[in-house]
Amino acid sequence: MDKSKRKVVIAGNWKMNMTPSEAKAAVAETAKLVEGKTGCEVILCVPFVDIASAVEAAKGTNVKIGAQNVHFEAKGAFTGEISAAMLLETGVEYVIIGHSERRQYFGETDETVNKRTKAALAAGLKVILCLGEVLEQRQSGITSEIVSMQTKLDLAGLTADEMKNVIIAYEPVWAIGTGLTATPDQADEVCGIIRETIAGLYTKELADATVIQYGGSMNDGNAAELLSKVNVDGGLIGGASLVPAKFSKIVDAAQ
Ligand code: 13P
Repeated sequence: MDKSKRKVVIAGNWKMNMTPSEAKAAVAETAKLVEGKTGCEVILCVPFVDIASAVEAAKGTNVKIGAQNVHFEAKGAFTGEISAAMLLETGVEYVIIGHSERRQYFGETDETVNKRTKAALAAGLKVILCLGEVLEQRQSGITSEIVSMQTKLDLAGLTADEMKNVIIAYEPVWAIGTGLTATPDQADEVCGIIRETIAGLYTKELADATVIQYGGSMNDGNAAELLSKVNVDGGLIGGASLVPAKFSKIVDAAQ
């Protein structure tokens, strides 16, 4: 398999961190540090209220801005929710969908992940779709079944054309924010299983063109080795993306 056919995508997920003024400074600093580093795409996914200042600070740089969730309905009586059209108009290009923290704490299911993904793509957003097993599932030896099921359910009904705007982020839940990282071989193996599942749903060519990131305690110390794996096309980074100097080193590792 030729990995060079795929772009490498390094994305930060700020989660619930940074006020708008902090976001403005952090995006500007990150943009300065990654200037000219065109060997990968660089994205920062920020809280909704930070989008305006982040988009402004990212203008004219090679940093793209994303959101962290989107509702599946177009409009209406859904207090506290944000639609895909609203996001698009603010200038975000990407949206994270199905993060394990949303699945764990906010009742997200594969069905709602699928609905959100369809709504986001229909509006013209690109999607970073997160999936991954929890510790008990890994210990029971069912990681492969779990990620392959999530891949099938989350992507159900998406056309091959829509898949061009979908990035998958494999995020083993036990590795998120814990300091525990999947080994490069574990990350490669599961990203490979996801790729095979996509090949089964579509074609091998489409699967070979799909960007699959690893996420879970990726940092400036372990990124190079993880990214060297044939099935790992980038990273979705939480904690380390909040520190521009650390995040930019991960971008360096992806060059
Ligand atoms: P950490 O990098 O903090 O483990 O978070 C990973 C993550 O959840 C990215 O979406």
